[in-house]
Amino acid sequence: MGSMDDCPRKPSQSAMRSRITVLLLLVSTNLVSYFLFSGGGGGGGEHLRDSGAVLLRELNRTQSQLAESQSQVEMLNQRLSTANSLLETLLADLGQGHRQAVPEQDLATWAAQLTGELKLAVGPHKLPLGYTPNLGSDELYPVLGTACRRFQDELVQYMTYEVGGECPSDEAFAQRLMLKGCEPLPRRRCHPKSPAGYVEPTPFPQSLWSIPPDTSITWDAYTCKNYACLVNRNKEKGSYDCKDCFDLGGREKGRWLYGNSELDYGIDEVLELKRGSIRIGLDIGGGTGSFAARMRERNVTIVTSTMNFNGPFNSFIASRGLVPLHISVAHRLPFYDGTLDIVHSMHVLSNWIPDAMLEFALFDIYRVLRPGGLFWLDHFFCLGAQLNATYAPMFERIGFKKLRWYAGRKLDRGLEKNEWYLSALLEKPLT
Ligand SMILES: *[C@@H]1O[C@H](CO)[C@@H](O)[C@H](O)[C@H]1NC(C)=O
Ligand SMILES: *[C@@H]1O[C@H](CO)[C@@H](O)[C@H](O)[C@H]1NC(C)=O
Ligand SMILES: *[C@@H]1O[C@H](CO)[C@@H](O)[C@H](O)[C@H]1NC(C)=O
Repeated sequence: MGSMDDCPRKPSQSAMRSRITVLLLLVSTNLVSYFLFSGGGGGGGEHLRDSGAVLLRELNRTQSQLAESQSQVEMLNQRLSTANSLLETLLADLGQGHRQAVPEQDLATWAAQLTGELKLAVGPHKLPLGYTPNLGSDELYPVLGTACRRFQDELVQYMTYEVGGECPSDEAFAQRLMLKGCEPLPRRRCHPKSPAGYVEPTPFPQSLWSIPPDTSITWDAYTCKNYACLVNRNKEKGSYDCKDCFDLGGREKGRWLYGNSELDYGIDEVLELKRGSIRIGLDIGGGTGSFAARMRERNVTIVTSTMNFNGPFNSFIASRGLVPLHISVAHRLPFYDGTLDIVHSMHVLSNWIPDAMLEFALFDIYRVLRPGGLFWLDHFFCLGAQLNATYAPMFERIGFKKLRWYAGRKLDRGLEKNEWYLSALLEKPLT
């Protein structure tokens, strides 16, 4: 990701160098002419002092002009590099779209060739006679990610089951399809496998900080086969998504309780900014739902979006009595324009997301926020050079108002690798 950012900088840096060289030449030419002038005048010491002062002033002026043009060049340079990487991504996407457009049939042709359960799931379906709802059509189309069409074999496999029977245990397979853009997946007419020995959930509010019984879910899709394993993996080596999230008694318990006026903000200080008008919102990639739990304790309803990477994140959030939403970060947010009071995201939106996709995601967040709504960007990760060159201008383009903005080096590896975190509190303008 750093390389994409670095490449377009090289030519502009040399351009900047040559501009500085020209400016330096100008400065030295001025100096020479001053010396010639004062020398040729043949004046006494006073004259020399006068022209010395003039010379200094002139030098000072040139110096500040030089500094100014330098910072302008730097700024242009940064804009160029952002524009370049956006353009590259767009061009790459365009190229891909073009290549794939040729062999792909249009949706109607594709749908017409399907058979069996997949055909039924994809539709379209004729509306009953006499119904003329405001649909602009006499047919209903089930919703399906367009990229599903690229994976016909996988789709057929996904749709192969006994109608009314038990669904195949294919959660991981289904989630991989979603990540390839087949999101939403087609609906199915089967029952997901029920866990043996299910017990009803813990009542609220104890549920907020309780680990549910292992019998509340099926474990087929995961390496861990019980919650103790998930809780304990924070002590193991190895990288897992949201590694210590299941350990509700550990670090998870203290998150967002206290701010430190740097990267960590406290929930109460953020809510205080809006004095009770923060009531509903979304936590993007919210792990096991602790942000929503802390908000619930303050009577704020937060929906937590999460995938199930190596763990039953959705079920766990639900067992706490919170609302999980199984969508990827690529998914258009399923909320209407201008509806949410707050959107929060920690660690998830970061420099691993291609620039163009990130910009679309940020505009989508802006869209669902109500005027005056808050976007709490929590620990956005990137490299030092990207922060000012790519991301600060990107946030500027989206149109958020900065209420708080703090960038700090990542403590563990940040010093040698120039890795940074950004925490920001951004407001959608009222008008
Ligand atoms: C140069 O300019 C700065 C600000 O414009 C001023 O503070 C400083 O005293 C100047 N130095 C000289 C030598 O004139
Ligand atoms: C949450 O709402 C309940 C019921 O309206 C109220 O009794 C309670 O004090 C509220 N809690 C907070 C932290 O505002
Ligand atoms: C970004 O720019 C600001 C303001 O110009 C500067 O203070 C800061 O050091 C820069 N940050 C990085 C990581 O380069």
